[in-house]
Amino acid sequence: MSVWAVLAAAGSGDRLGADRPKAFVRLGDRPLLGESLERLEASDWIDAIVIAAPPGWEEPAILLAEELGCGKVSACVAGGVTRGESVRLALAEVPDDAAAVLVHDAARPLLDDAVVERVVTALNEGWDGAVPVLPVSDTVKRVDGERVIETLDRNGLRTVQTPQAFVAQVLRDACQGDVSEASDCASLVEARGGRVKAVEGDPRLLKVTDPADLDRIAAML
Ligand code: CTP
Ligand code: MG
Repeated sequence: MSVWAVLAAAGSGDRLGADRPKAFVRLGDRPLLGESLERLEASDWIDAIVIAAPPGWEEPAILLAEELGCGKVSACVAGGVTRGESVRLALAEVPDDAAAVLVHDAARPLLDDAVVERVVTALNEGWDGAVPVLPVSDTVKRVDGERVIETLDRNGLRTVQTPQAFVAQVLRDACQGDVSEASDCASLVEARGGRVKAVEGDPRLLKVTDPADLDRIAAML
């Protein structure tokens, strides 16, 4: 089974507020993108990689991949206006005979191969897709502005990470319609009735959103 990785790295990183797109902000001694790129390259579960780079940053992304010896990188496309569009554009570079696609956010640099294994092997069990999840430890409430409306039962709630793995054709079909509102790929598959497995996530797979996240994750390298 050939597994292609789509690395979503095309965001601008507005909340980080750096002088460059988030994927190229320094983490340790190299751009953030380098961390997940190198880990996908090293994974025995991944056969090839397509990068969705910030528009205008395709060249630096390819150079970084070369510097890191990432021979699995098969294409680098300019991403779109939303994450969903970026994934769709990258997916167009995945060949028809690919069996599965793993979508990962470059904003989550500390990718452990055990998570990749968990989401990919779920596909062999007959699931359409798989996502890494974490239990919710805080109490969760629905609010309307300042007013608390209700308290949700957190037992049935999970937070969701990437990488997310899908049967390739299932993801292609799911990306046919309007993808602009989707905050992850699994939601598009769920919306079409696809069966998505929740597998154990990884607390270290934190997402870089604001500057404090970057400091926290750099300390974990
Ligand atoms: N992403 C993308 N294309 C976009 C928007 C986001 O590929 N048009 C990617 C980001 O590069 C990131 C992941 O999707 O790896 C999650 O997005 P997010 O954390 O929101 O990153 P940004 O959109 O870059 O950050 P912000 O929302 O603060 O601008
Ligand atoms: Mg964003």
